[in-house]
Parts: sequence; C-alpha cells; structure tokens
Amino acid sequence: QQPTRIAPSILSADFARLGEEVRAVSAAGADYIHIDVMDGHFVPNITIGPDVVKALRPHSDLPFDVHLMIAPADPYIAAFAEAGADIITVHPEAGPHVHRSLQAIKAQGKKAGVSINPGTPISAVEEVIDMVDLILVMSVNPGFGGQKFIPSAKRKLKRLREMIDASGRAIDLEVDGGINAETAAEAVAAGADVLVAGSATFKGGANAYAGNIARLRGQG
Ligand code: DX5
Ligand code: ZN
Repeated sequence: QQPTRIAPSILSADFARLGEEVRAVSAAGADYIHIDVMDGHFVPNITIGPDVVKALRPHSDLPFDVHLMIAPADPYIAAFAEAGADIITVHPEAGPHVHRSLQAIKAQGKKAGVSINPGTPISAVEEVIDMVDLILVMSVNPGFGGQKFIPSAKRKLKRLREMIDASGRAIDLEVDGGINAETAAEAVAAGADVLVAGSATFKGGANAYAGNIARLRGQG
C-alpha cells in the first residue's frame, strides 16, 4: 500500500470553468485528475469526451486518470490516449472483452485500469491482474456524484489489497464514490491508496480545496 493519493473527480467541478477548476485542485495538492466519461448507455448520464480532455491537458501537469463508463470502450481508447490521458480505466461489465480493452490501452503506452461496480465480484479482476496498473473499486453505482458510500466496498478493498500484495506488482488500489473524510479513512484502512473524491473536494469554492484535500488525506 503506497501513501494515500487524492484524485479529485471533476464531475463535481464548475463545468463552465473547467480549466480554472483543474488548475485550482492541482495547486491545492491533488495527485491525479479523475475524469469521468459517461455515455448515457452504460450509465444513465452523459459527460465528457476526448475533446474536453484535450482542452484540459495544458491546465495541469498531474496524471489524467480517465474513468471510462462507456460501452463499448475500445473504439475510443486511442482518442483518449491522444487527448492526454495517462491512466485509462475500463469496466469489464461494459464488455465484451476486457482483456482486449486492456491490451489496447497498453498498446497506446498508457497505464491500464480495471474497475468493478458494487454488484460485480472481484473475480472479474483476477484473470487480468497481471496486466493492470490500477484497480478501481466503485463504492457507488456509477453515473452521478454525491451518492452515499456502499460499505461492502471495504470488503472488496481488503481482498484486492491481499491479491495486489501477493502479485508483487505496483498496482494502485483506487476507490470511487461517496468518499469524504470519514469514508476515506475507512477505505485507506481497508487497503485503498488512491481516493477519488468529487463533491468532497469541490465543496466550498476554490479557497476550500486545499483544506478539503488535506482532510481526505487524513491531515487536518
Ligand atoms: C461516479 C463517478 C465518480 C463520482 C464521484 O460514477 O465515477 O467519480 O464523480 O463523486 P463523489 O465523490 O461525489 O461521490
Ligand atoms: Zn469515477
């Protein structure tokens, strides 16, 4: 388990001022910029495409952690890689071939992530653990920010932490959904080392971001 890193989800940022918002959280101590891509098909919401990722790229030097909630994902992997994604995460539930999707991400020279929904067993990750750089445990059903943390995610994090440690590989264990100072501490205790936080990062306006991020990290 590596030191806790914070990945603000820009889904909760002011979309009319996205560039500024990305600069503000980058200056406020964020470690990754988490970008939620939704297609209105795999999840019931529509958000950001590769052109927006490209437009945001000059606004931060932090890794862009692109969470694809789209089905199919494969036709868009190259576009997100070219737009400036550093980590690209896909859902096996989006199908049809998660191994092929991960190969496509690696072929672009990017870090590959696999994400599992609250109702998906961790066995979905088992056969691809040797090819991933990040495992993302959803602690809400994907689609919207501001939902409540689903406690069974902690059990999954514990088991995945054991699997990652046994693999001997450097794999980020990321948790996404309903993370606040309290659930952040629980998720870290369960083995998470990257915390996605949308509403908890962006609440209170730009002057509050540094304090919000520090609290998520367990400081202050
Ligand atoms: C949900 C997204 C999350 C979301 C988290 O589908 O994957 O990244 O923005 O928002 P909060 O932190 O508000 O639960
Ligand atoms: Zn996300």
